[in-house]
Amino acid sequence: MLRRLARAATPRQRVFWARRSGSLAEVPTYVVDLRSDTVTKPGPAMRRAMAEAVVGDDDYGEDPTVRELQATVAELLGVEQTLFVPTNTMANLISVMCHCRRRGSQLLLGRECHIHVYEQGGVAQIAGVHSHPLPDLPYGTLDLTDLERLVTRSLGSPYHPICELICLENTHSSSGGRVLPLEYLRQVHLLARSHGVRVHLDGARLMNAAVALGVPPARIMEHCDSVSLCFSKGLGAPVGALVGGPKDFIEEAWRLRKALGGGMRQAGVLAAAALVGLADAEEMLQRDHQNAQRFAKGLQELASPVCSVDPTAVETNMVMVRVDGLPPDELCRRLQAVSADEAAQTGRAVRVLVFPWTERSVRAVWHRDVSTQDTELALGKWAFVLRTLRLGQDGRS
Ligand SMILES: Cc1ncc(COP(=O)(O)O)c(C=O)c1O
Repeated sequence: MLRRLARAATPRQRVFWARRSGSLAEVPTYVVDLRSDTVTKPGPAMRRAMAEAVVGDDDYGEDPTVRELQATVAELLGVEQTLFVPTNTMANLISVMCHCRRRGSQLLLGRECHIHVYEQGGVAQIAGVHSHPLPDLPYGTLDLTDLERLVTRSLGSPYHPICELICLENTHSSSGGRVLPLEYLRQVHLLARSHGVRVHLDGARLMNAAVALGVPPARIMEHCDSVSLCFSKGLGAPVGALVGGPKDFIEEAWRLRKALGGGMRQAGVLAAAALVGLADAEEMLQRDHQNAQRFAKGLQELASPVCSVDPTAVETNMVMVRVDGLPPDELCRRLQAVSADEAAQTGRAVRVLVFPWTERSVRAVWHRDVSTQDTELALGKWAFVLRTLRLGQDGRS
């Protein structure tokens, strides 16, 4: 039993030998998983650090590795304190609950942002906070005039909810990993502060934003009152996120983490993985961004009427591919399938995993388990599928 568990814990190889039948026999099959940067598996160094972590009871504040992580990231972000929590969803919810103390208070955010779309409306169902979504502009920003109108609407009005918080997301996931410009952040913060409203940053991918801007993350945080930061995305850890902000904010966050069931004990085994992920973050994220850019340019060079991409919109690790002429899920199915034709033409079989994003697009996400060579394989597979589609349209296959 134990041996079986140990075997299951060993990282699976990404190269498989395909079925020994037809011309697929003995052709290597590669899987390039571009569904999300959450799919990474901890490598040997991370597993070793987890196994060897010095731990204590973090619910008593006694886990030295968690304390090290919290102090390291507080310095990196330029905030007074941080608090380790299991997920970025919890980090966001705790932050909203800390800022919006009045039941029914209002939160302004983007219509497509993660907090609004993918966190089950936790801010309403758990925190009693009323979200007012605004249209997301192409860069992942919200219109400043709209923000000002909504922030001030409740002034002197007994009818409107009182706005206490603006939530921004950086990088902005649904717009394809766009980076919020520093000047935009400065303006939102100024506007918010002048009306006693605070700014929380969903920084699940804050490190990607910092790397793309070429600035320390603390420069971004100059314009925010609190932040969440996730370790289980581009940083490659299996679990964990942080809330960051002023000391009194984190004291309250500690209480709320406990109430939400997020207080952990020997959490140093998890914090150790996060520390490993942080150690080479800049280098790894830079490589991810370069690979995403290389892919976008390569796809653009194919000049396909079916798949198009704007490389100038690729700022970090995500590529939005516009799909015309067939449903995106059909494209995903073809990218995932392997065929004897492919083996015969390319000498290998490649499965590319991507998700449909909208009715006209699929999204591909780069992460530390996708090498530069994998990127070329993905591009080759994409070219093969597009060629097959073209031949199909001409009635020749
Ligand atoms: C922008 C953003 N915020 C928050 C989250 C939530 O993170 P978690 O899955 O750790 O709860 C995600 C997850 O993908 C995300 O992309």
